[in-house]
Amino acid sequence: MTQTDRAVDLLRAGELIGLPTETVYGLAADASNPVAVRKIFSLKGRPADHPVIVHLASSIQLDEWVEITSDNVGLLAAAFWPGPLTMVLPKLPEVDNAITGGQQTVAIRVPSHPVAQQILQAFGGGVAAPSANRFGRISPTCAQHVRDEFGDLLSLVVDGGDCEVGLESTILSLVNGPELLRPGAISIDQIEALLGEQVSVSNRLSQRAPGLLERHYAPVTTTWLMADAGIAARLAALGQDQQRTGLVTCGESKFDCQIIEQLPANPTDYGQAVYAALRRLDRALLDLIIIQRPPQEPAWAAVNDRLARAAQWKV
Ligand code: TXA
Ligand code: MG
Repeated sequence: MTQTDRAVDLLRAGELIGLPTETVYGLAADASNPVAVRKIFSLKGRPADHPVIVHLASSIQLDEWVEITSDNVGLLAAAFWPGPLTMVLPKLPEVDNAITGGQQTVAIRVPSHPVAQQILQAFGGGVAAPSANRFGRISPTCAQHVRDEFGDLLSLVVDGGDCEVGLESTILSLVNGPELLRPGAISIDQIEALLGEQVSVSNRLSQRAPGLLERHYAPVTTTWLMADAGIAARLAALGQDQQRTGLVTCGESKFDCQIIEQLPANPTDYGQAVYAALRRLDRALLDLIIIQRPPQEPAWAAVNDRLARAAQWKV
């Protein structure tokens, strides 16, 4: 029996599987089986009012789940699907509350990962999948990360290699005008260029204040996001205790610190590598993780959004 056959059998039986996608690994269940979908919430420890994304093999299946609110939907699907874009649309009445967290909308994505495509096509229906991590923690970007999160609690983690994108999909609501809910690899510029209209940015994103932050996508270890001047001063002040501190740099390090994760200085490669680097540092049981703040530029929007959530403190 192939891995795809096993995956499909388990989904049909109402079981959960670890599913590779090009963004991050998902914790997947048959989206039309509310009992299976509820298992996702209990395994992740996720509050029931957080909706999950429904994954489809192709945009042809869209009208089985949502109302198509405008021509923008077809344009976006043609341009970016399969790929790392999620669209939020008004749900059809039959879509269960377990998926939507009680809301009147559903988030839909058509992933491009060849293994995800194979499984979705063979399964035929929608697959509900949040990222395959415990609630609030860093999303998994390889099969081993999923096993580290859930161990024997999952009967199958399909191994699709390292995720190519490494950050969660861009989420765009099309319930009213286009509104960005989460930045990702598909940028707001790309979407505006395609639609020829402005995309608004959700208040939840635009009003994120510096200082103490709401943690999500977070390591267990205390994590600070710091500008260069702050890092130099902090490392100097730590002295001997520096051995208990891990540093994540953006490009070549100009700092004197023993435990360094040096990440690429471009946003695409940085995004692909950052979660694995944070997981390695988290496993080293340090006192502190310091992340060097990448450039505050539009190309870094998705990376900066996730780093702000990974950190407790931003200086
Ligand atoms: O790249 C991804 O999107 C990955 C892979 C597995 O597809 N999935 C993912 O799912 O990141 P999750 O559940 O970890 O994050 C989905 C986000 C959540 O913040 C959720 O609140 C939001 O999407 N979301 C889901 N349905 C929504 C809806 N109907 N309206 C607004 N936000 C929604
Ligand atoms: Mg998640």
